[in-house]
Amino acid sequence: MKIETDIVIIGSGIAALQAARVLSKRFSIHLITKSNIRNSSSYRAQGGIAAVISQEDHTSLHIQDTLHAGEYHHVEAHVEQLVKVGKDAVQQLINQDFPVDRTVQGDISLGLEGAHSKPRILHSGGDATGKVLIEHLIKELPQNVEVHEHEIAYELLLNTSGECIGVKTKNDSGDSIYYASYVILATGGAGSVYACTSNCPDSVGDGIALAYLAGAQITDMEFVQFHPSLLYINGTAKGLVSEAVRGAGGYFVDENGNRLMEGKHPLGDLAPRHVTAYEMYKERAKGNEVYLDISGIADFERKFPTITQICQENGVSISQERIPIAPGSHFLMGGVVADRYGRTSIPRLLAVGEVACTGVHGANRLASNSLLEGITFGKLMAEKLLLNGTKQWNFQEPPSLASDERLTLLAKETLQNEMLDKAGVIRSIKDLIKLQKLLPTYNQVEFFDFSGCTKQQIELAFMHITASLIVNAALLRKESRGAHIRTDFPSKCQDWQNKWVVFEKGKMNV
Ligand code: SIN
Repeated sequence: MKIETDIVIIGSGIAALQAARVLSKRFSIHLITKSNIRNSSSYRAQGGIAAVISQEDHTSLHIQDTLHAGEYHHVEAHVEQLVKVGKDAVQQLINQDFPVDRTVQGDISLGLEGAHSKPRILHSGGDATGKVLIEHLIKELPQNVEVHEHEIAYELLLNTSGECIGVKTKNDSGDSIYYASYVILATGGAGSVYACTSNCPDSVGDGIALAYLAGAQITDMEFVQFHPSLLYINGTAKGLVSEAVRGAGGYFVDENGNRLMEGKHPLGDLAPRHVTAYEMYKERAKGNEVYLDISGIADFERKFPTITQICQENGVSISQERIPIAPGSHFLMGGVVADRYGRTSIPRLLAVGEVACTGVHGANRLASNSLLEGITFGKLMAEKLLLNGTKQWNFQEPPSLASDERLTLLAKETLQNEMLDKAGVIRSIKDLIKLQKLLPTYNQVEFFDFSGCTKQQIELAFMHITASLIVNAALLRKESRGAHIRTDFPSKCQDWQNKWVVFEKGKMNV
């Protein structure tokens, strides 16, 4: 099937839906998602939206907290946009009836999370912010946004001038080609490249692999954030236990009830995530179980209905007052290089949300800045397109260079376990080199023809490509900064602060 349209959006999380909402005022849109529209990491987001709403807060403080948590490896102008444009974009959503939790007096309830100097986290439905937000946006999606579920994008199309002109996709009924004036990648992150994750199983870096294969610049892939508290039962992660639980008085303990963050960081249990995740990792590496003590939180079930449900489904009673946890992959700071309007190094290919790297998260994202990112940059990008219009005249494609190269891939679970073991919370040169040897090189994938592959084979190949970018970037960055912790380079190095490991067409530059 061949479809011509104004805009194709790949993905269905907050950034995708926010962009679709604004763009639909003027354009016809096809939104493609490889699963169902509600299956996204945004939908699962428990922690809320960080925004400067309170009179006691200030944008300069939110900017400072973002820079501090990310260890000053940012594009500061974009951080400023995130915080300043973001607060208005969030206010606009509230004005448009997005229901946020309020105090009995009717004021917006503002929670505290790790590394925030002020309570500034808005929630909805207690710990169901992502779900409520996505449902709100789905409800608002107009007729001219055509949604295609269970359809995977496997190749971006470029014209003879190197502009993106469309995408090839696949579903159970066969293949389709969409020609569009703009293609927007909003595919989310890559947490499920790891065995233990808070992400939905679909988050394996598809958008990053698609963009990389098309020749776009990719950066900061070494920065994978691990969240310190995933509900952990019999060696398996069962879902997130939000940082908001610690904001409400929960704290990390060992099996004897000893507090684990005491004396480790001035912010204790609310230290930046890479700090708490590393401490929990070290404790578990000694063979000890770790827990969140929730005995001090009154009315836990009402405040955290989603977490209560996840615990109950997995046989953990809230009345035990402690939740078994372990760190797991949570957020990718890196991605497709993009500016504030989502523009990538390939003309007419845009990237927004977690798939993009605009430099707003540095080496470690500040809690609850991710929904804010989707809301803010989804809007900025879409408004810019509304101004620009969408004319695309050259749909002439160069001859195809598909190769008959065979790909040797690991089984999915093997890859996920290897990534957790060798490119997870801590990394060493020895482990990274071992893993690098198991992953495909650019030459092996550059012209690979995915048209004959199944959805599962495409996903597995994309997982390997994403994993290979993470591993190669982690090998190159010879320092520890934020979420990238090298045992052989345990300190931060000033020289690396403003250096970006950038991949482009098989080359890796700093
Ligand atoms: C959480 O609720 O702890 C996660 C929120 C986030 O990732 O920002």
